[in-house]
Amino acid sequence: MTCCFHLFRKKGSSSDTRLTGVDLDVSEIQNVNIYTYKELRNATAGFSPANKIGQGGFGEVYKGKLRNGSQVAIKVLSAESRQGVREFLTEIKVISSIEHENLVKLHGCCVEGKHRILVYGYLENNSLAQTLIGSGHSSIQFSWSTRRNICVGVARGLAFLHEEVRPQIIHRDIKASNVLLDKDLQPKISDFGLAKLIPPNLTHISTRVAGTAGYLAPEYAIRNQVTRKSDVYSFGVLLLEIVSGRPNTNRRLPDEEQYLLTRAWDLYEGGETEKLVDAFLDGDFNIEEAIRFCKIGLLCTQDSPHLRPSMSTVLEMLLGEKDLNEENVTKPGMIFEFVEAKSAGKQKGKSEEKGNFLLAEGKQDESSSSETMSSFATMTFTAIYDRSN
Ligand SMILES: Nc1ncnc2c1ncn2[C@@H]1O[C@H](COP(=O)(O)OP(=O)(O)O)[C@@H](O)[C@H]1O
Ligand SMILES: [Mg+2]
Repeated sequence: MTCCFHLFRKKGSSSDTRLTGVDLDVSEIQNVNIYTYKELRNATAGFSPANKIGQGGFGEVYKGKLRNGSQVAIKVLSAESRQGVREFLTEIKVISSIEHENLVKLHGCCVEGKHRILVYGYLENNSLAQTLIGSGHSSIQFSWSTRRNICVGVARGLAFLHEEVRPQIIHRDIKASNVLLDKDLQPKISDFGLAKLIPPNLTHISTRVAGTAGYLAPEYAIRNQVTRKSDVYSFGVLLLEIVSGRPNTNRRLPDEEQYLLTRAWDLYEGGETEKLVDAFLDGDFNIEEAIRFCKIGLLCTQDSPHLRPSMSTVLEMLLGEKDLNEENVTKPGMIFEFVEAKSAGKQKGKSEEKGNFLLAEGKQDESSSSETMSSFATMTFTAIYDRSN
């Protein structure tokens, strides 16, 4: 059974109470599909492991087929993400009202009992993390024009969230696994608005960082300062990943190449930026454009948030509508340098040991497991935060 809120307007309706558990004035909440738990269970063959397509910081994701035949991605929020029905539905209303060609569409949700489940449109070609930037089991060939189109699309989607949606939405978790690709390889940003689904009364650790290691702006990781400019930073990292076809951190590479930002900066300073471009392209790319994209990536990841451009400016720069020649670029802000400085024993203390341990344990390079990524981010940066106070 799929229903809309306006079907449940009648006060005291048993269906209303059964579905939401509260007496809501739902007159303003329309066009949000409410799915029953049973319906979603059927759609996923009982949430069978065979239908599980991912595991992220918010919970598990299943591929499902609804009774009307449409394919969906069903995200079962973990216990930690549970919040009151009213707040949950208010946020769902906001998220599902946002439509843009570069944003994943939220179809609806399930709020039965303790279940909090989100239902999204299913994207055929998975995420950038599992195709271009991950461990490389994908058969998709990412030409330069495809990469260019993905970068521009993600910038468009993010500029829309930052500058056109009211109230503005800061994504907080821009990364390769949150860029999904449709059958034509058009990019769609997923998980926007989810940060607000985490109730504020949660523990220190859970609320500290919603982002992921390697994409976190220093001010966000250390001081928890979340602004549109922390999203711009993450976008810059992603942009460099798309151009270079490698993850932001890869410990299998020689020391000087392990961190993408450091590598990009070194090449930029040495006037060899084109060397950053994915060798897989075998020289088949627009060199001027590729160098421009790398420079934009560096502009976005500058240490000072004020120096980073807004997303609409980034979009203009990507499209070549704004000149970059006048732009000075300063060194990227790197949280890993902070971590490494601690690891190298430059500072001592109990919490430092904890940080070192986590750093050693966290397999963030080439890992397709977002679970590893998320827990690594949360724990490591919480440790950093504690030490910096
Ligand atoms: N709408 C969707 N269509 C197809 N696959 C999806 C969709 N949403 C999520 N996924 C897959 O599920 C995985 C886990 O998603 P998520 O819970 O958001 O965690 P994360 O973004 O940290 O990887 C994603 O990496 C992606 O592969
Ligand atoms: Mg995601």
